[in-house]
Amino acid sequence: MTTTQVRTATLNDSTRIIALLQANSLPTSDLAECRPEFVVIEDGDELIGTGGVQVFGDAALVRSVAIAKGRQNGGLGSSLLDALERHASALGIRELVLLTQTAEQFFTRHGYTRVERASVPRLIQATAEFRSLCPASAVCMSKRLT
Ligand SMILES: CC(C)(COP(=O)(O)OP(=O)(O)OC[C@H]1O[C@@H](n2cnc3c(N)ncnc32)[C@H](O)[C@@H]1OP(=O)(O)O)[C@@H](O)C(=O)NCCC(=O)NCCS
Repeated sequence: MTTTQVRTATLNDSTRIIALLQANSLPTSDLAECRPEFVVIEDGDELIGTGGVQVFGDAALVRSVAIAKGRQNGGLGSSLLDALERHASALGIRELVLLTQTAEQFFTRHGYTRVERASVPRLIQATAEFRSLCPASAVCMSKRLT
């Protein structure tokens, strides 16, 4: 029987979130400063998924979306992204933006479309993820929440 649970993160999850992101080669150096809002997936005591939104008014940068290796391709990422979008909606966010090098197809299936970096809100363009942490080759995508 599965004991998988999706919930919003607490400060106590920080160390395990960072470990999961590092295991998936995603940036963590700016997290302490940016303090995104995270949701996580747990299986029993194990933290197996995470995703965050860095909020700028009614827009947000989706970042740090990762499922533990060995647990990918089973629908967990989709559940996590749905929960993250519901969380963002509840915060009043209307536009989600992200950069990805590896998961364009995954986000396309979830309604995100490619956009020019220059078209997204300026505060998002000014984040460390946009300026330096994600290479210029990363694809920029956005989605409007209804
Ligand atoms: C991107 C990522 C979060 C997706 O998580 P995931 O758990 O693998 O996602 P899902 O299982 O919901 O969907 C992935 C694929 O599995 C397949 N799938 C979905 N549900 C499934 C199920 N119940 N059974 C079998 N396969 C399934 C789908 O075909 C889907 O294909 P797609 O990638 O073309 O959309 C994960 O691959 C990951 O952590 N990657 C490394 C970190 C990363 O690149 N993060 C993105 C940073 S922006």
